Amino acid sequence: MTTKTAAITAVGGYVPEHVLTNAALAHMVDTNDEWIVSRTGIKERRILKPASLGTSYMAIAAGRDLIKKKHIDPATIDLVIVSTTTPDMPVSSTAAYVATSLGATNAFGYDLQGACSGFLFGMSAASAHIVSGRYKKVLLIGADTMSSIIDYTDRTTCVIFGDGAGAVLFEPNEEGLGLQDEVLRVDGKGREFLKIEAGGSMLPASSETVSKRQHFLHQEGRQVFKFAVSNMSSAIDQVLQQNQLANKDIDYVVAHQANKRILDAIAKNLELDYGQMLTNIERYGNTTAATLPLLLWDYESKLKKNQKLLFTAFGGGFTWGATYLTWAYNN
Ligand code: UT7
Repeated sequence: MTTKTAAITAVGGYVPEHVLTNAALAHMVDTNDEWIVSRTGIKERRILKPASLGTSYMAIAAGRDLIKKKHIDPATIDLVIVSTTTPDMPVSSTAAYVATSLGATNAFGYDLQGACSGFLFGMSAASAHIVSGRYKKVLLIGADTMSSIIDYTDRTTCVIFGDGAGAVLFEPNEEGLGLQDEVLRVDGKGREFLKIEAGGSMLPASSETVSKRQHFLHQEGRQVFKFAVSNMSSAIDQVLQQNQLANKDIDYVVAHQANKRILDAIAKNLELDYGQMLTNIERYGNTTAATLPLLLWDYESKLKKNQKLLFTAFGGGFTWGATYLTWAYNN
């Protein structure tokens, strides 16, 4: 027998203690608080220290937070998906290490690389695993240590990104609540605009790649901004139409936190009330795969059963999409 829907039944999160303020960044590169706040909406971001703790450290902390809050036995978890662009190591599954550290002794797991859309794509995977009827508890974690791939001499990227992790549990829902529909897309032509050139199969690490700073994230911000606004807006529009929903029917938009001006532009394009947009960019910056679950972590107490949520994200690749989900519980 197949289950009709898969719902989010618990949320956890973790952000590192160390706060990197705009004032501190102004001592590192030629920037200032006024530029960063007016162009991005970011006031501070969290940084994992020491970086050698790795992304798994934050993913495990977010998973533990969820397990403790929900009082679940980790041995009942069937699958752990870690959406990340910054795995602990290029080879060796971060999800395997996270699952074992959490005590998920009966689970399998895998890493999912969808850049800033990693958590959105992970929602699709988690839901499909549940709806197949084969699994009952899927732990989906979005976690990124962006500070490990950022060039702190490049003012165009170092002011934007931060570190963090968020976790959700997907379980079968008998009332038809949970993930309802999605529009997910990729466009490989976008990879020139947002990438790390070296360290992969095309350009393995060498002393030359290190000296040319090719292991850091490179972004053509203006181009990415343009595609982010138009693609997230059209994916949302399409998912609304597919489900005969008007924008006012949506309680909250859970949108990727890349730039406050992107959120403003999406709200304007879709005539959304800004109160419908959940935001925490001012405190964490862009935490890549962690932004969507960290929004749920911050706003969980506001969310009520049956409310309609729209998730949207855009990231390197390009990758993007929009997902319609009904919330399944009250706190
Ligand atoms: O999450 C994955 C997807 N990523 C995104 O969605 C990010 C999308 N892009 C953006 O958010 C924005 O493009 C940025 C925040 C990256 C940049 O903002 P912008 O308004 O697009 O700035 P710009 O690149 O057009 O640069 C405008 C000026 C330039 O100076 P000139 O050439 O006009 O003299 C930059 O050098 O601002 C300068 N600039 C800065 N000035 C002070 C760039 N970064 C900084 C900075 N501080 N940190």
